[in-house]
Amino acid sequence: MDLEQKVILITGASSGIGKAVALALSHGHNRIVITARRKELLSDVAETIQKNGSEALAIDGDALDEEQAANIIQQAVVQFGRIDIALLNIGAGPSLSIAQACPDDIKQNMRVNYDTMINFFCPLVRQMKVQDSGGIIANTNSLAGFLGLPTQGQYSAAKAACRIFLDTARIELKQYNIRVLTICPGFVVTERNKQGGIPGSLTMSMDDAARNILKALKSESKEYLFPTRLKIAIMLPRFLPRFATERILSRLLHS
Ligand SMILES: NC(=O)c1ccc[n+]([C@@H]2O[C@H](COP(=O)([O-])OP(=O)(O)OC[C@H]3O[C@@H](n4cnc5c(N)ncnc54)[C@H](OP(=O)(O)O)[C@@H]3O)[C@@H](O)[C@H]2O)c1
Repeated sequence: MDLEQKVILITGASSGIGKAVALALSHGHNRIVITARRKELLSDVAETIQKNGSEALAIDGDALDEEQAANIIQQAVVQFGRIDIALLNIGAGPSLSIAQACPDDIKQNMRVNYDTMINFFCPLVRQMKVQDSGGIIANTNSLAGFLGLPTQGQYSAAKAACRIFLDTARIELKQYNIRVLTICPGFVVTERNKQGGIPGSLTMSMDDAARNILKALKSESKEYLFPTRLKIAIMLPRFLPRFATERILSRLLHS
């Protein structure tokens, strides 16, 4: 789908990758609905979107609340009549040592990554089913969702759950012309994780990530993994014996 003059919803757009994608799309005369909890940050993003020539609707809300998510979709449709593209982008992956974790630490990560996606997904499907041209629902997933990474077990599990759910949704929703995309970035330097200690050669900027996400939306790639070097690294263990993968990953933990 071309990315001009479209109605586009981006969740988690107050900072990081969601904000970068919203700003990248704002040069295409789009109508962009942005949502997150931090109202002032959202207003700043909306202002820049408008300066760049698109319309903006900023709606603050907590995506953990099913009703608030459904209301956001409703407000977007009242304002703009339809939703052509939705990027469900909310998520977080703080490090967690399983030996120290309590059940709620682990389940909270599933809520932030999986539940927030589902809370938007269902009302979006209801809306897109009645639109002549269907629509695109994309999720900002992660390369971490392909492998149980040390200190990221809860995050890898949550992103894998999203990915598998979307695989099924893609098949079931094809009849309504709803295209479901899973977009999997590697490490992206954002405001929140810039002290993260990941070697610079393995990271990319938010603008690079946004460029790739726009490419994925435009091409409607069902599963889009980037950057290539990390994509290969993350896929390699599929072809290695398990003991070799575990040895490599435990070196990561102790490095
Ligand atoms: N950074 C990376 O290296 C990387 C790599 C691969 C994938 N990803 C994925 O990319 C996505 C964006 O992450 P990011 O790195 O850009 O992080 P970020 O800057 O922390 O962005 C997260 C966004 O989600 C919003 N959010 C969080 N909880 C929410 C809630 N309950 N309700 C509504 N909004 C909520 C935050 O806004 P408020 O706090 O204002 O609500 C913020 O706008 C995530 O899904 C992440 O897993 C990130």
